[in-house]
Amino acid sequence: MSIRVILGCQWGDEGKGKIVDLLAQESDWVARFQGGANAGHTMIREGRPVVLHLVPSGILHPAVRCAIGNGVVLDAQALVEEIRYLQGMGISLEGRLRISACAHLATPIHRAYEALTAVDRAIGTTGRGIGPAYADKVIRRGLRAEDLLAPARFRDRLASLWETLRRACGADEQAFDAAVGDDFGAVAARLEEAGVLLGPWICDLTDLLLSEDDRGARILAEGAQGAWLDIDHGTYPFVTSSNTTIGGVCTGLGVPPQRIRRVIGVVKAYATRVGLGPFPTEFSGQMAVAFRERAGEFGATTRRPRRCGWYDAVLARRSCRINGVDELIVTKLDILREIEPVKLANAYRMPETEADSAPGVIRFSTRELERSVPKYREFAGWQDDLSACRSWEALPAAARHYLEGLAEETGVPVGAVSVGPARHEIVKSSP
Ligand code: GDP
Ligand code: IMO
Ligand code: MG
Repeated sequence: MSIRVILGCQWGDEGKGKIVDLLAQESDWVARFQGGANAGHTMIREGRPVVLHLVPSGILHPAVRCAIGNGVVLDAQALVEEIRYLQGMGISLEGRLRISACAHLATPIHRAYEALTAVDRAIGTTGRGIGPAYADKVIRRGLRAEDLLAPARFRDRLASLWETLRRACGADEQAFDAAVGDDFGAVAARLEEAGVLLGPWICDLTDLLLSEDDRGARILAEGAQGAWLDIDHGTYPFVTSSNTTIGGVCTGLGVPPQRIRRVIGVVKAYATRVGLGPFPTEFSGQMAVAFRERAGEFGATTRRPRRCGWYDAVLARRSCRINGVDELIVTKLDILREIEPVKLANAYRMPETEADSAPGVIRFSTRELERSVPKYREFAGWQDDLSACRSWEALPAAARHYLEGLAEETGVPVGAVSVGPARHEIVKSSP
C-alpha cells in the first residue's frame, strides 16, 4: 500500500513534471505507466528548464529510481537521446532506470504512418506515432522492449511491420522511406544500437515494483496527458490513445488497485489544450493571444501554441470522480495576477433543454460538450506577485477565495498550490 499517483485532470500540461519532481523527494521510485514521447514534462534545475518526454520526472534526485511501465509506448531512440541529454547535464542513469520488457515500441515507422494517413492533422497529435503504436499493440502485431533483446528476430519482425504499415497507408517504397526519414537498414541499425544500450535495463518490471512495494518502498506513479485526453473518458476522438485515468496505473504497471494509497490530481488554475477538440471555456480574440503570451503557454514537446481558457470545474469534477482524486494540487496560480474578474465554469447550459445543468454535473459526450455553453462564477482578482508566497496565510485574500471556490466547485480539497515553475515555489498548507 505505498503507491501514490499523480494524474493530470485537464487536457495535459497541468504541471505534472514539477509536482512529480517535488514529491519525488519523498519517494524511492517514480514510474511512468502510459503515454510515450508525446508527453513533455518540465522541471527546473539550477534555474533552467529540463524537459523530459519518457524518463520519469524523479530523475533529478540521485537517490530516486525510475521505471517505464508496460503501458508506455517506448520510442527507444528518443529515450537514448534523452539519456544523453541528461548525461550532458551530469545526471547519470546508471542503475537508476528500469524498463518493462512488455512495453511496446513506438518507432519511426509509426511516426511515418501517422503522417501519411493524416491522423496528425485531423486530431492535432504530437506526431510521435503514439496512436499507431498503441493500435499495433491492440491488433497484436507490435514490437516490445523484450524484442530488442533478440536482435536477429527483431530485424525480421521490424521488416514485416515496416511492410504492413507501408501497405496500410498505400505508400510506395520511396514515399514511405521519405516519410520515415531513412531506409530500413538505417532504422533497424539505430534501433538495434538503442537495444544494446537499453538492454541491461529491460526487466520484469511488474515483479520488481510489487517486490519493492512489499518491502515498503515509496512508489510514485507519474501520469502523462490528462483525464480529458483519455481514450475512453476524454473528448473522443480528440484524445490520446491510452488510459490517462486511474485504471491506467493498474494495467500500465501491473499493480492491483489496493496498492494505491493516494491519488493526487493536478490542475492548472485555468485551462489549456493543445491540438483540436472541444474546449467550452476557451478564450477568444485578443484575450486568447495576450493570456498565452503572459502564461508562456507553448507546448513542451512540439512548441505549438496552447489554447487557453477559464478553469472548468464541471470537467474537473468529473475527472476527480473518475479517478477517485483525494487531493488537488493547483498550479500556475501566479499567472492569474492582475486579471479582473477571475472566472471559473461551474455549470453548462444544455443545448436541447435550454436548462442549466446542476452545478458540476454534465451528461457527458463530445457532441454535447461542443454545443454546451458554460456558466461562470466570478471572483475578485488580485494584483500581488504570488511567487514569494510559501503559506496559505501569505496568499492574498482574493487568491484564497478563488482557491476555496475552485475546491468547492470541483468537490476535492486543495492540498498544495504552485506559484512558480521552480520546485520550492509551492504553498503546501490547505485551505
Ligand atoms: P506537464 O506536462 O503536466 O508536466 O506540464 P508542462 O511541463 O508541459 O507545462 C507546464 C509548464 O508550466 C512548464 O513550463 C512548467 O515549468 C510551468 N509551471 C509549472 N508550475 C508552474 C507554476 O506554478 N507557475 C508557473 N508560472 N509556471 C509553472
Ligand atoms: P503531457 O504529459 C498536452 C494531445 C495532442 C493531441 C492529442 C493526441 O505533457 O501533459 P497524441 O500525439 O497523443 O496522439 O495526440 O493529445 N497531447 C497532449 N496535450 N499534453 C500532453 O502530454 C499531450 N500528449 C498528447 O496535442 O491533441
Ligand atoms: Mg506537458
